[in-house]
Amino acid sequence: MSMSRIPFEQLPADVRQAVADKTGAVHQAVTAPGGMNSGIASVMETGSGSVFVKGIPADHPQVAAQRREAAVAPHLPQSCPRLYWHLELDGWSLLGYEVVDGRHADYTPGSPDLPLVEAALTELQGITAPADVEIKDAVDRWAEYTPPGTLQHFDGDALLHTDFAPDNVLIVGERARLVDWAWPTRGAAWIDPGALALRLMDAGHPVSSALAVAGRFPSWSGAAPEALAALGAATAALWREIAEEAQGEEWKQGMARHAVALGDALRVDL
Ligand SMILES: Nc1ncnc2c1ncn2[C@@H]1O[C@H](COP(=O)(O)OP(=O)(O)OP(=O)(O)O)[C@@H](O)[C@H]1O
Ligand SMILES: [Mg+2]
Repeated sequence: MSMSRIPFEQLPADVRQAVADKTGAVHQAVTAPGGMNSGIASVMETGSGSVFVKGIPADHPQVAAQRREAAVAPHLPQSCPRLYWHLELDGWSLLGYEVVDGRHADYTPGSPDLPLVEAALTELQGITAPADVEIKDAVDRWAEYTPPGTLQHFDGDALLHTDFAPDNVLIVGERARLVDWAWPTRGAAWIDPGALALRLMDAGHPVSSALAVAGRFPSWSGAAPEALAALGAATAALWREIAEEAQGEEWKQGMARHAVALGDALRVDL
């Protein structure tokens, strides 16, 4: 559910004070571009240095996602910014992160960002989903979308990000950093290269080049063709539903078309 951003200064005084108790005096707050779910997304200059603050009202439907993001934060690899603190008071839920002073990744064909994005995902591919944190299971998230008899393929214990929209990948120097862990998921490792492939298609890659990128991940190249076909079919079904519920949001219609093409390319005749 999207909502509009408000500047930090419009938070209740006791909430701003609680932030200042964590950070020292707040000198400046600049609202970040990209994404749309957070009521607050600001880079703040404070007595203890810079901090990225994202937050939403505590009664917002996305607050569960924000709590998942906080819970998984200690388990994330180096490519992800550190979470400094999590505050909930007076109707607000706020996360304070290490600032990544970068720009959104460019996914267009030939972009020099692409090897950096692959490196960040390669690092993530080695991480096992923590057992002691409540994380969604891929089999549950995909259950409504998979062709009959294929859901078991999605099972696994990799920690998955699942949302590789380019505004969730920040480029700083020679490094890509993964942000926005609202949907941490436990499942088969090849699901993330597949999610990236779809986003590459949305940035102009033909399906063959998007699949070539996915194929450089051992999880993908080693996966059963039936498993990847199930992912392709499920991705097409998922984005058809998203697009139908969002008439008029053109980027979602585009994603649905790319998902159909991805599903076609991955189909296996049984
Ligand atoms: N640690 C950070 N340092 C600096 N900027 C950041 C950081 N994390 C996120 N951003 C910026 O803020 C934007 C929004 O952050 P994020 O994607 O985490 O929240 P969101 O509003 O829930 O996003 P979405 O609407 O995509 O779900 C990002 O697209 C990015 O531009
Ligand atoms: Mg985002």
